[in-house]
Amino acid sequence: MARTTATGRMTTNRRFNSMHSQKSLFRLPASEHYLNCAYFAPMSRSVEQAGQAALERLRNPASIGADMFFEPVDEVRKLFARIIGADDHRQVAILPSVSYGMATVANNIYGSEGQEIVLLEDQFPSDVYIWRRVAQEKRLKLKTVKRPTSTTKLGPAWTQEIVESISPRTAVVCVPNVHWADGLRFDLSPIADAARASGAMLVIDGSQSVGALPIDVGELKPDALICAGYKWLMGPYGMSLGYFGPRLLEGQPLEENWITRRNSENFADLVNYRDEYQPGAIRFDVGERSNFLHIPMMLAALEQTALWGPASTQSYCSALSRPAVDEIVDAGYLMADAESRCGHIWGVRMPKGLSGDRVRHELDARAVRVSFRSDAIRVSPNVYNDPDDLMALVDALRVARDVN
Ligand SMILES: Cc1ncc(COP(=O)(O)O)c(C=O)c1O
Repeated sequence: MARTTATGRMTTNRRFNSMHSQKSLFRLPASEHYLNCAYFAPMSRSVEQAGQAALERLRNPASIGADMFFEPVDEVRKLFARIIGADDHRQVAILPSVSYGMATVANNIYGSEGQEIVLLEDQFPSDVYIWRRVAQEKRLKLKTVKRPTSTTKLGPAWTQEIVESISPRTAVVCVPNVHWADGLRFDLSPIADAARASGAMLVIDGSQSVGALPIDVGELKPDALICAGYKWLMGPYGMSLGYFGPRLLEGQPLEENWITRRNSENFADLVNYRDEYQPGAIRFDVGERSNFLHIPMMLAALEQTALWGPASTQSYCSALSRPAVDEIVDAGYLMADAESRCGHIWGVRMPKGLSGDRVRHELDARAVRVSFRSDAIRVSPNVYNDPDDLMALVDALRVARDVN
């Protein structure tokens, strides 16, 4: 049921731009307001059905033909390639996690003693630990670009500091396009230009945006773009996808599995061992990449994500979020300026003196599901949300502040 808030700014309109709320395609409990896709995407009906059909098929392995080791996997590559603007789906690898993708990249960097790896302050750990190890092993230096102290245009200011930290000494730049903890937005174009001009490798963690915010690898030309599958791509937990640019395509995989070798389609000939891999980034696929449960679920998820399209999803989330953001700022909470923010993931910081427990209590009382990351309340709506969900959030934040 729709409620109006103190300023009456929010409406119950469920249609934003060309898209309606897609709630009916999900089975979220009607009593909850799930605003936490950055944590985990809810399973859509189509993904659930694909998973159930896959389990039923697995009752009898005779139903798993040789083609199922290859064709659905290629469909996953093609859909992901379409979402990120890659021309060749064979540049997409099937990964089990972001950390695996990052380790694959790290295994193939060239960098000599004293060169630098550029990271961000408070970056997600899967983007940090591997580079710490590489830095130690190869005697490279980690250069962590700190969050600027400016209160306006924080995203552009941080982007600028990243650009300025890149020099001919830089071996690798590893950045996301939005900060995982509070959604702060970076402009990848100047970062990509600076990396290219310095000959540094550009590695992007797209986990918190790809699917809900357009990205074009044709334009950015990163060396790698690694994405968790269970957030904005809305697939199963345990599967990530990676795009690898030309400089990495001759690289060494983390493991040597049979299916990534040329002619692996011919099951009768597998012990005719070969040195050559399948083309492109297929060499980086994880062992048992054809996972007969995950792949059909990921396929259903990507079909839906591609159908909505990242641009429409972003404009839906932006239009949905905008009135709530205005209300939250009116209520005294702190948020990044519009230029530094996206519609699908944003951080709310509490006014001085307001305790996190107080806010948690009000959110829980209304079954509003968000995350607390660092000092931010991270709100991450998606196309299944509607104004009621945002109103419940605004209501909780207002009451928490008023009773404080
Ligand atoms: C930015 C980012 N990268 C990666 C991940 C997941 O990493 P992994 O697949 O290594 O568990 C998350 C999870 O929250 C994330 O927010």
